[in-house]
Amino acid sequence: MREGGDDGGQIGRGACTSPSGDSARLPRPPYVWVWSAIWLVYLAWPVSSLFAPGVGRVRALGAVAGLLLFVAGYLWPWSPAGWAARPRTLVWSLALTLPIAATLTLIFGPQWGGLFIYSAVLAASLPARRRVLVGLSSVTAMAAACMALAGAGVGEVLSIGVTCALIGTAMAGWMQFLRVAQALRAADRRIARMDVLEERLRIARDIHDLLGHSLSLIALKADLAARLVPADPARAAAEMTAVQAVARQSLAEVRAAVAGYRTLVLDEELARARDALGAAGIRCTVTGGAGGVPVPAGSALAWALREAVTNVLRHSGASACTIAVSRGGGWVELQVEDDGRGAAATAEAGARAGNGLPGLRERLQASGGVLAAAPGPRGGFRLVARVPEAPAADAGPPAAGGRAPAWLGADPAFDGPTGEGLP
Ligand SMILES: Nc1ncnc2c1ncn2[C@@H]1O[C@H](COP(=O)(O)OP(=O)(O)O)[C@@H](O)[C@H]1O
Ligand SMILES: [Mg+2]
Repeated sequence: MREGGDDGGQIGRGACTSPSGDSARLPRPPYVWVWSAIWLVYLAWPVSSLFAPGVGRVRALGAVAGLLLFVAGYLWPWSPAGWAARPRTLVWSLALTLPIAATLTLIFGPQWGGLFIYSAVLAASLPARRRVLVGLSSVTAMAAACMALAGAGVGEVLSIGVTCALIGTAMAGWMQFLRVAQALRAADRRIARMDVLEERLRIARDIHDLLGHSLSLIALKADLAARLVPADPARAAAEMTAVQAVARQSLAEVRAAVAGYRTLVLDEELARARDALGAAGIRCTVTGGAGGVPVPAGSALAWALREAVTNVLRHSGASACTIAVSRGGGWVELQVEDDGRGAAATAEAGARAGNGLPGLRERLQASGGVLAAAPGPRGGFRLVARVPEAPAADAGPPAAGGRAPAWLGADPAFDGPTGEGLP
């Protein structure tokens, strides 16, 4: 994209801004050829002068030949091939039509001065403002000079000059309109592509968060059931029934995620977390609850809880996990802390950077919230998620005045497992 100067400085700069002018890629308007050809009807006026007595046949034929060449040159840029090769065809077309207009006016008189108007239209269709200015003023000056030399009166000279300038300006405006329309169409297409991309990211994030958790839980419960079969078949059957329920619920959630309706309920998620951690033999303590937490904040934290518990199950090897929900200063906060091996150990064991925490951070940011995940004070791992009680659009992030809260440390973008974001 070319800024300022030659690009015409128009609205929708992006539409016509390469050095040669992006208008080469402008879509050719329907029937543009017809619209350009219609104006040729005014050529009847100079042609009629050829029938005046005293114009020799040879001179008349010469004039007609010149006129045909002029018409071909004028129509060429509006043909499909000429349009595709713009702005080169416009320049060639000007180079052909201007000398013909000048010659015919000088030989046959001021009646032929109207030919310059067609050249003015060509000059005004050039892709950049500077080229239009240079082209149009050259055509206008040449038209006035030729008219004067051909013996036209001041009124006629002025009339052709002003008509060239006015019609040229109108044409430049129309071309600019085309470019703006083209820019808007391109912007529309870009927005549509971004919408699709965003939707793909949303689905990827939802599937990761939903399936990661549910499949971990199913695997754990199935393991437990298999171990219980010999000693306690009745409990094994109960665990398998639980597996069935989790699978059904996951299916419903995946369907809802794909359809775009996915709100988790914090209370339900707390119960699920207790159940999942219990099945894995991890002692779970829950303090605080979802009572009174507004639904959007609760839903955002429910997603955070789900990812945190999935991580505890997958990565921590912990024997105990505490989950705390608290409110204050306009924020609702969730802390999930385990006494496992911690992120440093899992990183040493070759764990890759995952998708869960970055996806969770995006999700929380969308609700005006923040995320910190780091080693806990007594080893293990601690995840803290905070969201504003009121939806971000209504109230903006509270207490911290629109910035990440101080407890998050200097880098509000921190979400890695090994950083130092927590008090
Ligand atoms: N509770 C935890 N205990 C130990 N390590 C953890 C814990 N939670 C996260 N991690 C570490 O952080 C990494 C990134 O987590 P995450 O972004 O959720 O990715 P994923 O779970 O898909 O691997 C994990 O791979 C793991 O090394
Ligand atoms: Mg994870």
